[in-house]
Amino acid sequence: MKILVTGGSGFIGSAFIRYLMTHTEHVVINLDKLTYAANDACSVYEVNSRRYRFYQKDLTNLSAITQVIESEEPDRIINFAAETHVDRSIHGPNAFFQSNIVGTYNLLQASLAYWQGLPSASQSGFRFHQVSTDEVYGELTDEFESPFTESSPIKPSSPYSASKASADNLVQAWGKTYGMPTLITRSSNNYGPWQYMEKLIPVVINCIVKQEPIPIYGKGDQQRNWLHVDDHVSALYCVLTQGDVGEIYNIGSEDELKNIDLVQCVCRISASLLNTEVDDVLKLITYVEDRQGHDFRYALSSKKIKNELGWEPSISFDAGLAQTIEWYLTYYDER
Ligand SMILES: NC(=O)c1ccc[n+]([C@@H]2O[C@H](COP(=O)([O-])OP(=O)(O)OC[C@H]3O[C@@H](n4cnc5c(N)ncnc54)[C@H](O)[C@@H]3O)[C@@H](O)[C@H]2O)c1
Repeated sequence: MKILVTGGSGFIGSAFIRYLMTHTEHVVINLDKLTYAANDACSVYEVNSRRYRFYQKDLTNLSAITQVIESEEPDRIINFAAETHVDRSIHGPNAFFQSNIVGTYNLLQASLAYWQGLPSASQSGFRFHQVSTDEVYGELTDEFESPFTESSPIKPSSPYSASKASADNLVQAWGKTYGMPTLITRSSNNYGPWQYMEKLIPVVINCIVKQEPIPIYGKGDQQRNWLHVDDHVSALYCVLTQGDVGEIYNIGSEDELKNIDLVQCVCRISASLLNTEVDDVLKLITYVEDRQGHDFRYALSSKKIKNELGWEPSISFDAGLAQTIEWYLTYYDER
């Protein structure tokens, strides 16, 4: 197969490309604007592999992405490309609406025109897969509420999650109205190597390395479900190749932690890897003013993907977190 990956230079997109290059024989086309959040993890394939091609394009440019799709003729399109940082969306929502809503709309339009021109056998094999987030469901307000299922109502809280929810609605409408085969996945918070420095876990590690205050929003009692990025991408491949057309699949783990507990875990593991006193690291934790509209809790039920497609996460939180921290410490050391 030929798989077009948009946003393949970001944190999760690059992990997905690594998965495809390592575990499959598919041809991979990476289309990415290369915003500040992009990394160069996949540049190795540009020189080393004939089954990887990169296009620096912006989803807001319809003619540019139409050209790539028409010339490459992909069997599958998976859309990771997005602006993703909630804090940035609060202070500057426009970029989020451009990339996440207009960008997805353009990608749908370009995909639809291409898909309509395919012979019917290829039409039924084609998939448009939208990579979405648990944040579209909004927040759970206490610790005892049941996790979100795929039929929970969409109630986004931030400009970021509103833009992702809008994109999900567009994808569903294009599936229903035009019959284009679509899939949507909604994952919980990811952690792992190559995440941009502004996200919680890299921020904490960076502060520990530099011995600077570790900022925690509010009381740090917000709860999140954490999933290793390699588990996320194996789930994405499973849905992309076996998911039922038109369906939504949640992708999460059992690992639910308060932010403060997560930060303390990162402090303890980092202290042991750096051979420093845990108490000296823990005392860097500094409580700062809470984020506006900060969701209290996200938790996902992943029963559907488990029961219908047989996918389960395989990386334990303790092992995954330790491996992630080691990766960042080496990465900072080398730069
Ligand atoms: N990180 C998480 O924990 C998480 C959880 C659930 C879902 N998601 C979703 O997964 C996807 C990938 O997230 P991520 O954390 O890898 O994001 P990221 O910010 O690390 O990477 C996003 C990538 O998209 C590219 N991009 C942005 N705007 C673009 C545009 N207009 N045209 C082309 N490329 C553009 C960027 O250059 C970057 O390479 C996003 O859609 C996000 O909503 C992320």
